[in-house]
Amino acid sequence: MAGGSDKIDYVFKVVLIGDSAVGKSQILARFARDEFSLDSKATIGVEFQTRTLVIQHKSVKAQIWDTAGQERYRAVTSAYYRGAVGALLVYDITKRQSFDHIPRWLEELRSHADRNIVIMLVGNKTDLEDQRTITTEDAREFAQKENLFFLETSALEATNIENAFQTVLTEIF
Ligand code: GTP
Ligand code: MG
Repeated sequence: MAGGSDKIDYVFKVVLIGDSAVGKSQILARFARDEFSLDSKATIGVEFQTRTLVIQHKSVKAQIWDTAGQERYRAVTSAYYRGAVGALLVYDITKRQSFDHIPRWLEELRSHADRNIVIMLVGNKTDLEDQRTITTEDAREFAQKENLFFLETSALEATNIENAFQTVLTEIF
């Protein structure tokens, strides 16, 4: 459409990474379409969705890329990270292993992505508080040590999803 109101000032690529089943695809579904599904299928290859939002009076198109946590379904790593200016590094607060793997994801991210990439550590599934195995304090400490932003989210309850993306996109600015 012609006209000034729908012009895009910036396009920012943001990638989602983390173990399988931590909720990457549902975080994206919540952010892009305000949807959530409990019987989400494992991602195969790469998917992306966009959402345009206004940040500091500019129109920003966020292009969010989502790939498989499972090694055998993953996309070509270098292509996935190419041009990314932000990353959400996701674990599941009820799954110790998904948190223990974060240093590996971080290493991959740091070896493939631009060194100025903005990274947010995301502890997802806070609605399952009674099954929590990773304390907020432990995660916050790790994030501080590694210089990452940190938030806990629930894609199911739509808690902090908006905040997580807003923080990353604003920081990219
Ligand atoms: P891969 O594509 O295999 O890498 O997994 P993924 O990280 O994309 O996980 P996905 O989004 O498919 O979610 C895995 C499961 O966790 C699904 O059953 C989701 O419904 C569920 N899930 C995702 N987010 C939440 C959440 O915030 N709370 C709860 N309770 N379940 C969630
Ligand atoms: Mg997925």
